[in-house]
Amino acid sequence: MTKAGILGMGSSVGDQLVTNLDFEKRLDTTDEWIRTRTGIEERRMASENRKSSHMALEAAKDALEQANVSAEEIDLIVVATVTPDMAFPSVSAMIQDQLGAKNAAAMDISAACAGFIYGIVTAQQFIENGAYQHVLVVGVEKLSAVTDMEDRNTAVLFGDGAGAAVLGPVSEEKGILAFELGSDGSGGMHIHLQDKFIFMNGREVFKFAVRQMGESALGVIEKAGLTKEDVDFLVPHQANIRIMESARERLGLPPEKMSTTVKKYGNTSSASIPIALVEELKNGKIKDGDTVVLVGFGAGLVWGAVALRWGR
Ligand code: UT7
Repeated sequence: MTKAGILGMGSSVGDQLVTNLDFEKRLDTTDEWIRTRTGIEERRMASENRKSSHMALEAAKDALEQANVSAEEIDLIVVATVTPDMAFPSVSAMIQDQLGAKNAAAMDISAACAGFIYGIVTAQQFIENGAYQHVLVVGVEKLSAVTDMEDRNTAVLFGDGAGAAVLGPVSEEKGILAFELGSDGSGGMHIHLQDKFIFMNGREVFKFAVRQMGESALGVIEKAGLTKEDVDFLVPHQANIRIMESARERLGLPPEKMSTTVKKYGNTSSASIPIALVEELKNGKIKDGDTVVLVGFGAGLVWGAVALRWGR
């Protein structure tokens, strides 16, 4: 059976650096509160005319180059986003044209912070059943466009960016080993877009996230026929360091085996996991043959996890 894996990745972030001190000057908050409650130190926000499609395009170009796959070789583009430039056309169709991916189908999916995981699992199905060879998956958000910058409960949390992966066939022992996806729409109102802004019941989302991240990560490890000891690196959705730490502790991993890019980029929703992957590949924290667990949760409520063995 064909195995699907990640052939190359790329990322792009907002062009404006916004530090906790910038918020301290404008809102009833402190650098200390933000750091200790969330782990965030700074985030990148995209200026007015820099849209999701721009960041998605940059990340996608980077991923194609890293994968050594041409735009014409892409069969399908899946963009996970809850902040497209406009309701339609989709971001995936926009970048299909801009990349010159003239043989690709294109669709956007809405699974909030679990979007990248839903995207790569979708890609895996098309590749493993033989329908397609190469699928480009992008997670991109411009959350600053839907955040009330006067609301201290949400303004300090989010950032803008994109992360992209080219998936294709890999050798039998590499690639996606198992996945787990789930949803519970009964909690949907805990985090939703109302009028133009994000509304969040932080405490409820926090409780859900702590429970779900640990359970999904353990679940996917078991499905892959692995044990906690087999995991080399954990890339959780980068929302809050305290949520991430609880998942890491449930897996019994030491701190150096988990990505914590949240401190630099804040919560970039569907872009957080691929941005973190790109960063950890650059840092040499993820190496060929490593067993890596990705786990995310978000608005829906939805969640997803993937266990994969890195490399082609
Ligand atoms: O991507 C998925 C989406 N979201 C998440 O993952 C978010 C999950 N939730 C969280 O990360 C946390 O719940 C937050 C970081 C949002 C909040 O942290 P918390 O420790 O759960 O704080 P809290 O909501 O229990 O609020 C404690 C206090 C409140 O004041 P009162 O009511 O106790 O007087 C808040 O008003 O902290 C206050 N507060 C702030 N204070 C200073 C909330 N935001 C701020 C702020 N600066 N920025």
